[in-house]
Amino acid sequence: LADGPLRGRRIVVTSGPTHEPIDPVRYIANRSSGAQGTAIATALAGLGAEVVFVTGPATVPPPAGVEVIRVETAREMHAAVRAALPADAAICAAAVADWRMAAESGSKIKKGADGPPTLHFAENPDILAEVSQLAEGRPRLVVGFAAETDNVIRHATEKRARKGCDWILANDVSPATGIMGGPENAVTLISADGAETWPRVGKDMVARKLAERVAETLGEGT
Ligand code: C5P
Repeated sequence: LADGPLRGRRIVVTSGPTHEPIDPVRYIANRSSGAQGTAIATALAGLGAEVVFVTGPATVPPPAGVEVIRVETAREMHAAVRAALPADAAICAAAVADWRMAAESGSKIKKGADGPPTLHFAENPDILAEVSQLAEGRPRLVVGFAAETDNVIRHATEKRARKGCDWILANDVSPATGIMGGPENAVTLISADGAETWPRVGKDMVARKLAERVAETLGEGT
């Protein structure tokens, strides 16, 4: 482990998309690459943190020098995060699928005379909200993301209150921004102190800035 201000701090980072199976050969996914979560884990480890990196099927390789736990579904991610606690901080950068199939088909759904199938959904556990609201063993700092396409700051501020996390990094993922799956990010940090907009820079710079803030907040390690 690197020496640095986060030495002795354990931080759980979620990253990437989740895949929710429909049947043995099909799944529902989203466009998250895992780039921002990977950069955050790398930056935290660079400041000396012990990072547990819980990742869905991302397109970018996981960071070096951290414990990597690979999952596929939101429910697996939820279980892995629970198992990784307690921790000093949790950074939920994953693009967790909000819904899964109410019942996954055990065999491939066939094309047939009945026409296209109707998919029935069930809600996935909200990992960020649950960790934020833990009565016992809540990490001292819980950070979430809000990927929005309109009224970014208002929606993200509401999200912070609803989930109960300390900070929300809000970003505009409208296709025109090229942010989702792209190399750059433009975020606004929303905390109890208000909203602070950071310039649009590479995801690694956003990660470094966030890691420094985390280090300031958690204080020096032992
Ligand atoms: O509610 P929404 O998906 O917009 O919230 C995004 C934030 O919540 C992200 O930090 C994401 O990692 C987290 N989240 C989660 N579990 C879910 C859904 C979202 O941890 N099931």
